[in-house]
Order: sequence, then C-alpha cells, then structure tokens
Amino acid sequence: MVVIDSPAKIEEASGRLGVLMPGLGAVSTTFIAGTLAIRKGLSRPIGSLTQMGSLRLGKRTEKREVDIKDLVPLANLDDLVFGGWDIFEDNCYEAAVKAGVIDVSLLDQIKPELSSIKPMKAVFEKKFVKKLDGTYTKSAKGHRKRIEALRQDIRNFKKENKVDRVVMIWCGSTEIYQEPRGSIYESLEFLEKALDSDNPSIAPSILYAYAAMKESVPYANGAPNLSVDFDAMYSLASQEGVPIAGKDFKTGQTLMKTILAPGFKARMIGIDGWFSTNILGNRDGEVLDDPDSFKTKEVSKLGVLEQILEPEKYPELYGDLYHKVRINYYPPRGDNKEGWDNIDIKGWLDYPMQIKVNFLCRDSILAAPIVLDLALFLDLSNRAGMHGIQEWLSFYFKSPMCNPDLYPIHDLFAQKAKLENTLRHLMGETLITHLGLDYYYEE
Ligand SMILES: NC(=O)c1ccc[n+]([C@@H]2O[C@H](COP(=O)([O-])OP(=O)(O)OC[C@H]3O[C@@H](n4cnc5c(N)ncnc54)[C@H](O)[C@@H]3O)[C@@H](O)[C@H]2O)c1
Repeated sequence: MVVIDSPAKIEEASGRLGVLMPGLGAVSTTFIAGTLAIRKGLSRPIGSLTQMGSLRLGKRTEKREVDIKDLVPLANLDDLVFGGWDIFEDNCYEAAVKAGVIDVSLLDQIKPELSSIKPMKAVFEKKFVKKLDGTYTKSAKGHRKRIEALRQDIRNFKKENKVDRVVMIWCGSTEIYQEPRGSIYESLEFLEKALDSDNPSIAPSILYAYAAMKESVPYANGAPNLSVDFDAMYSLASQEGVPIAGKDFKTGQTLMKTILAPGFKARMIGIDGWFSTNILGNRDGEVLDDPDSFKTKEVSKLGVLEQILEPEKYPELYGDLYHKVRINYYPPRGDNKEGWDNIDIKGWLDYPMQIKVNFLCRDSILAAPIVLDLALFLDLSNRAGMHGIQEWLSFYFKSPMCNPDLYPIHDLFAQKAKLENTLRHLMGETLITHLGLDYYYEE
C-alpha cells in the first residue's frame, strides 16, 4: 500500500471516464439511467455525496464550507461513459424496464442513450449463481483465455468510446459463499498457478477483478462474494498499483443498523436481540433464494453489529445479543423491498424496551448513488496514486475491506469522518478532530 504525501499530486480529471460493470441488472441500470436523467436536468442526484455533499474546512470561526465536488477534482457527470457485461442480451433500456425501478415515462426520455448501451458477453458459471441460466456468455474456455477476453473487452471499450480512464464496479449477482482460506487465496503466486491449472474454485468475479487490475483499472465490489477481498488480490492490487474497494453496497436494512447501533452504543443502551427480516422480489431476491448465495449475504450482514457493539468489551450490554437476518423472496414486491426489524433493548435497572423499524425502501434507488460515488472516488484515488484497499470508502459498504491486520469500521458516522478527513488530507487541509478546546482557552 502506498502512503501518499499531503497535499497529494492529483492528476487532472480531464477527458472521459468509462464506468464498466459486470452485471447490467437493477442496480447498474438504475445508476446509468439515473445519471443520464440527471445530466439532462430531468431529475436530481439525491443520495450522492459527490454531487450534493459539502464539508467544513478549517476552524468553525473561518466559516469555510465547500462542496465536495469543488474541493477535490472529480470527473464530471457529462464525461461518464457506461458499459458492462451480462448473461442476458437485453440492452440497458430493456433491462431497466424489466427491473421496474424507474418509471417508464422517465426511461423513455433517455431511451436512445440507454438503448445504445449493450452488454458484452459475460464470463459466467452456473455453479456460482445457481438460480440463473445465462446464454449470452463467452465461448472462451479456461481461466486464462477468459481473462484475456475480458481484457480485450476493456481495451475495445476504451478505444471505441475514446475513453481515457476506466473504473470497474461489480454489480453482478451474489455468488455462492466461499471462505478465503487456502493457498490460492493467501498467495498471489498460488493464485497465478490456480489460474494456469483452471482451478474450479475460482469464481467469475475473481476473473473480472483480475482482468481489471491487469488493465490498471480500479475495481470495487458491490456484492458480498470474495472477488478482491483476499490476500492474493491485495498483493495483485499493490503490484499493479491499482485501488480496490468493497464489499457489498450498504443500503436498506444494514444502512439503518449502522445508523442506529452506534447511537445505542454511545448511550450505553443494552441490546438483547435484533431480528431482521425482509421481503424482496427482484432478480437479486431470486438469486438469494439459493441457500449458498444467501449464506454469502448473511455473513456480510451479520458482521456489522458484532464490530459496532463489541460484546467482548461490554458483556453486560451485548454479551447475549441474539442477531438473526432473514431474506424472503417474494415476487410481487419487485425491487421495493420491505424490511422489519425488532430490536429488544434494555436500559437503567435492566428495564426492557422495544423498537420496531419498518423500512419500505427501494433497493436500487439506494444503491445507485453509491455506484456513482464509488466510480468518481475510485478514479480520484487512482489519479492521486493511492493503491490497494481504499478503506476510506468503507462508508459505502456493508462488509468493508481493510488491511488484514485491522478490524473494519462499520459505524456510518465514523466512516463518514474518515472519508471527509481523507479528502481534506488529499488537498492539504487541516484534519478535523472535533476537539475544539482552542475556542475556549488560549494556547
Ligand atoms: N440495494 C441493492 O440493490 C444492493 C445492495 C447491496 C448489494 N447488492 C448487490 O449488487 C448486486 C446487483 O444487484 P441487483 O439488484 O442489480 O441484481 P440483479 O439481479 O438485478 O442484477 C445482477 C445482474 O448480474 C448478472 N450477472 C450474474 N452473473 C454475472 C456474470 N458472471 N457476469 C456478468 N453478469 C452477471 C445477472 O444476469 C443480472 O442481470 C447483487 O450482488 C446484490 O446482492 C445490491
């Protein structure tokens, strides 16, 4: 990992930025269609920190509040070019209509641009996503040939679209659960050998990530499967000098958990149980109906409370916490997920209380601005020479990647402070500690 000097020498965001996504489904088409609509002035980028966020610089007395996009050099929305791969041949307009997230009346206003975005043939293996059958797949056989085909796709995309820089964001289906244990995950040398010998435990998402890094393309993983989250891939990212981030976009129920749990913990409120259940009817819900894919998601969702609440440090408050997460595939709801949380809390003198959260959310509406921010921030990292795991982007993930010697930070507000201080650091601005004693005592 590279430690950057501050202020960093950041290359300009000139020219076009390609955003390539394996998986042109609900999330990616909502991101693409949304961005096209926003740049035509048809709608607003609500939920995007890069487009709507601002932060404070210097002391409170200085009254310097700047928009994030004015503070750091980010690619302009007008300069984004979209592309991707899928196992279905639908163009982005057709896929967005099928996803049923954005009203067709809005999609129709950007139909020519959306229809012109056609998927490239995917690298797919059914054993990793058992609920899907895809026909629009590459004929290349073997890991090395498939990687080469993906690398060629990236090069063609750059050439055809006159794109200067590219980032890749995995918006594909959740693959089955795999533990990052064993030599192929632990060492790049063994991973390379496993690629040579077509080791069957290497999932397609690993091939996409490998291809991206070999093309110097930053990579973020929006799903909970491994993809880049193991030692061999951290080594590859360092070797190729590429930023990586992940994993699993933080939306819906987990977003709520990482907002609420730090609040309870801050006030030393105890929690005996947190039961979370969901109904979800989109293709993601169908994929997660397979127990092996659900296991990947479950592990990602369960880790959050453990780290925030630290039961080993506070056994009286959280030692007996019973945490359960359920996802039920229920087609009538489509992308409009409904989540219920029952939280059994306890206060002064052990008196029990209950909190019920009923979140009627729109899954992809919450995920799309995350894709946009990640694309712009990963490109910024790359231009600033920041390689390897970008922990400062934890804010966007359910299961944030971090240096293996560290524990991840899940608290949304701690993540936000880290992100903002990273931007200040990049621009050579003073970091904000919130100490503030100097407002009261002379130094
Ligand atoms: N709020 C959210 O929607 C949210 C939150 C967190 C994570 N995620 C994750 O993001 C991913 C995308 O979610 P979605 O709702 O768009 O799902 P989706 O099912 O609508 O889209 C996924 C697409 O990936 C395609 N695909 C599967 N394997 C592929 C491969 N090997 N190569 C290329 N394409 C492939 C599928 O055909 C599908 O079109 C899922 O893994 C999901 O778990 C979504």
